[in-house]
Amino acid sequence: MTSILEQLLSVFWLRPETAVWRYLDTEAMRRFEFEGRSLDFGCGDGIFSFIRARGQFTAEFDAFQKTERLDRFYQNVDVFDAYDESYVPLVASPASYQISVGFDHKANLLRKAAVLNFYKETVEGDGNAPLPFDDNSFGSIFSNIVYWLDNPAEVISELRRILVPGGKICLMLPNETLPQYSFYNSLYVETKDEQWKWLELLDRGRLSDNIKQSKSDDDWRQIFSSAGLSVSHHSQHLPKVVIQAWDIGFRPMFPALMNMVAGVEPDKLPGIKAEWVRALRMFADPLTAIGERNDQSSAFHCYILTK
Ligand SMILES: C[S@@+](CC[C@H](N)C(=O)[O-])C[C@H]1O[C@@H](n2cnc3c(N)ncnc32)[C@H](O)[C@@H]1O
Repeated sequence: MTSILEQLLSVFWLRPETAVWRYLDTEAMRRFEFEGRSLDFGCGDGIFSFIRARGQFTAEFDAFQKTERLDRFYQNVDVFDAYDESYVPLVASPASYQISVGFDHKANLLRKAAVLNFYKETVEGDGNAPLPFDDNSFGSIFSNIVYWLDNPAEVISELRRILVPGGKICLMLPNETLPQYSFYNSLYVETKDEQWKWLELLDRGRLSDNIKQSKSDDDWRQIFSSAGLSVSHHSQHLPKVVIQAWDIGFRPMFPALMNMVAGVEPDKLPGIKAEWVRALRMFADPLTAIGERNDQSSAFHCYILTK
């Protein structure tokens, strides 16, 4: 069995910055376990939660098997929002548990999640609308998408409604420091200096959206308490250097890398990928070690909340 970091580097080999971030998420979530009927709210393609649950993919599999519109990558198109029957997640061993429901608004991502056989059910819906679930119907909920939504306070109160008394919610939410660590925000948005306008190409709408929801611990706690949730655990993760490495990463070259990989002879690809992942470890290992040194300046909060 390979480690979670090794799995993430193999699956996200062309975007190692994602692997490092997601590994540090799994570390931050260590104290959270799914119990009872469980919900992955904004599950996407399910790959993150599957790997966190110790599911293993074969070395041939990656998260880039089915993408579309790579030519529009720099116009902020979600190139992963694509699915057809050619998408086969090459599962080497199943996860150690299943999640009852995977919820997302993108049908293609949910189809990818469904073929993992990791979610008992997938439900398509809009997280900005009242949720299509009964009151008190989940024992545990995980979400790292609340800050993508229009009104986090409303969503958090919806999540409380569907949670059983005594149930647990694990949320990943941006800290107020996040915008300061974004090259796009600190060099261009804050200064309006036109020489940095090109950073829009790097940001691709990511931090420009999330920044709206970056809050201090006190401000998030205020929202939880108004929603009737108490904090049973809080930690911070993703320090400045990790966010800055992620902010650039291999992102700028992603469409070109994808085209290059498509041109590699299939029998040569496993060897190239193995060498690539070995090289990534030289950087990912020390970076994830640095990433474990956290304080109040780290860019994300991880909360475990109880009703
Ligand atoms: C950062 S991804 C996280 C996906 C997954 N949880 C993971 O860790 O890889 C954000 C997810 O939120 C979903 N999402 C964004 N807005 C949404 C909405 N209004 N309703 C439901 N899902 C939404 C996206 O489709 C995407 O899958």
